[in-house]
Amino acid sequence: RKRVAVLISGGGSNMLALAKACEQADFPAEIVAVFSDKPEAGGLAKARELGIAAQAFPRKAYADKAAHEAAILAALDAVQPDLICLAGYMRLLSPDFIRPYQGRILNIHPSLLPLFPGLHTHQRALDAGMKLAGCTVHFVTEGMDEGPIVTQAAVPILPTDTADSLAARVLTVEHRSYPLALTLVAEGRVRMTADGKVERSAFAADAKDF
Ligand code: GAR
Repeated sequence: RKRVAVLISGGGSNMLALAKACEQADFPAEIVAVFSDKPEAGGLAKARELGIAAQAFPRKAYADKAAHEAAILAALDAVQPDLICLAGYMRLLSPDFIRPYQGRILNIHPSLLPLFPGLHTHQRALDAGMKLAGCTVHFVTEGMDEGPIVTQAAVPILPTDTADSLAARVLTVEHRSYPLALTLVAEGRVRMTADGKVERSAFAADAKDF
């Protein structure tokens, strides 16, 4: 089983969805640590309840972004993850952080990328008059929300939607899409090549994988 570290900033419902998937005997990954940049992140307690080591790295405890990232990298080094899943981690990782884990960091973003990267995704989708929204799991590269796509899932936008109601609907498909993406990557069925493209095995192109 691939060793996975999960980085969070908030409630951690995606981390929990991954943790639940990992409880299945045939799931190809296990969560070895949960790290947060926010000590108050609800996901930390949820991880500990499941017996997963969880630790906070508050940004203000470090002189600058480089020192903050160095502390997280050292903690990662100690648990030797094969893969890192960003699950509501609200900081942009620097190239120095990404380099040692090139092609091994996944992120989930609550839009159908490349539409609406960055913040206030749901309000922007509503303002644009979109009729569909969704989530994207992608490999992390230096650009924000820019890496190659592993999985996507779509939901309708209803005329009565607010940013909050839409976020809640998207979240329900996030909880299915992230475990699927992690399966595909952990089993080597989807991978990022050195030139930042995605490569899928014939097996991963099976309809049930989407
Ligand atoms: C999720 O909707 C995730 O896609 C989003 O934050 C939420 C975290 O919820 N991530 C981003 O916006 C990243 N830019 P969770 O803590 O309950 O998983």
